[in-house]
Amino acid sequence: MKLLFASSEIFPLAKTGGLADVAGALPIALHRAGLDLRLLMPAYRGVARQAEARKIANLGDPFGLGDTILLEGRLPDNHLPLWLIDNPRLFDRDGGPYQDSQGVDWPDNDMRFGLLGWAAARLSQANSPVAWKPDILHANDWQTGLAPAYLKAWGDSRPGLVFTIHNMAYQGLFPPALVPRLGLPWSFYAMEGFEYWSQLSYLKAGLVYADKLTTVSPTYAREIQTPAYGFGMQGVLADRAADLGGILNGADYAIWDPARDRHLHGGYGIGDVRPGKAANKAALQRELGLPQIPDAPLLVVISRLSDQKGMDLLPAVMPAVIAQGAQLAVLGSGQASQEQAFLALAEACPDHVAMHVGYAEDLAHRLQAGGDILLMPSRYEPCGLTQIYAMRYGTLPVVHMTGGLADTVVDATYDAILQGTATGFRFDQPTASAFQWAIERAIGLYRHPDQWARLQANAMRQDFGWDHSAAEYLALYRSLRSDEPPGGVPFRPQTETLPP
Ligand code: ADP
Ligand code: GLC
Repeated sequence: MKLLFASSEIFPLAKTGGLADVAGALPIALHRAGLDLRLLMPAYRGVARQAEARKIANLGDPFGLGDTILLEGRLPDNHLPLWLIDNPRLFDRDGGPYQDSQGVDWPDNDMRFGLLGWAAARLSQANSPVAWKPDILHANDWQTGLAPAYLKAWGDSRPGLVFTIHNMAYQGLFPPALVPRLGLPWSFYAMEGFEYWSQLSYLKAGLVYADKLTTVSPTYAREIQTPAYGFGMQGVLADRAADLGGILNGADYAIWDPARDRHLHGGYGIGDVRPGKAANKAALQRELGLPQIPDAPLLVVISRLSDQKGMDLLPAVMPAVIAQGAQLAVLGSGQASQEQAFLALAEACPDHVAMHVGYAEDLAHRLQAGGDILLMPSRYEPCGLTQIYAMRYGTLPVVHMTGGLADTVVDATYDAILQGTATGFRFDQPTASAFQWAIERAIGLYRHPDQWARLQANAMRQDFGWDHSAAEYLALYRSLRSDEPPGGVPFRPQTETLPP
């Protein structure tokens, strides 16, 4: 079976969050399972060189923005075949995939990701200019949402279409004048098409025109069918419930494993977690300018600072937590008000709080290894990878019970501790007081080193490797191919509703 996997970011070539980690890791597991695949991403500045890519086809000039060239290269490190959409006017510039270096959205994101969707569709057509043609097109998030719409509009034979939602909050909304500019039919600009409150929604295009929809945890698959989590699309999703399922993300342990992590001050595993983490903690405290107190519980945050992540709850909680002798190290960027709040906290309490504004892949690894407790009070969380990585590093997560956080972290209740299943701390309501109580429970157990060590061992033993999830995707792909024998893990639609 041949798979074209389209994403606007793929680790290590372009990354703003978990989507890149997924797009850089799930295809490796699918390849291991026997799929013949191509990854597809825009040729952002510098990417073609890193991937050692060369021209294989001219896709033409659909939007009057210059010819679009298809480049073929390889993903660094694992050598998966990679296709890059090269259009210098749209993609060859400094800054991030979606925003300039000041954090302002690119004004031409409509055309940039219109082109990505168009190219994914064009390369999936029977008369594509490239000989290799996919049996399945797997598109991810709004940036690739138009691909299913194009294929439906063009109407000829097409591959099976899978669309994965990584975050309902980002919907790619643009003015309707774009419809003819993109070469899409006006008939699709309707309530049962990609129209959304008088705008064109790239996300809705994916939700309406793909054959199967997935999201990245079973709980989130249920949540997004409700008004609280559906960001206005709950009705569309409820209509498609029979084709919607949740497949939990995995972790790439080749990159996120303290035993072989090249960013650390010495590796460690389950057998030597105590000395291993002590060395990494001391080095981290030194690096961040925090006092080197070995038994001060070190809380860490590695996060985008957006409403989603709930980090605005943390400053209010910190005085009480600091009073218990804890330290906090934050790595994050996003909303200026949140960045400022943590900078102010660090200035007021330099012996307890360190703030690193920005994006730093290597520091993220060192925080995972040197921290004791990871904080993730997300208001919603489609899956969340950071808490999955934290568990492998013996850094116990404190999480709001939502989405993938609820599906991956087992709360340290009395019973779960006794049974050896507890892996972290959960709280029910996204409020400062509930969050504080969960942090205090964690610090309380941290003060009992033997119990803490047992929890760490439970967490480190969890296996969130990609192979299981890859088997679920494989079964889903097979279900769309009449010529493929069924097999693997059956796809489970998320038709049951959440308890009130
Ligand atoms: P999301 O995709 O919503 O941001 P995830 O938990 O799924 O959340 O994935 C976040 C990914 O981004 C992880 O790999 C995490 O280490 C990384 N990350 C987030 N913020 C930063 C940062 N400021 N610097 C470095 N890595 C970060
Ligand atoms: C999104 C979600 C996050 C998820 C990631 C990868 O960024 O916010 O929860 O883990 O995508 O699927």
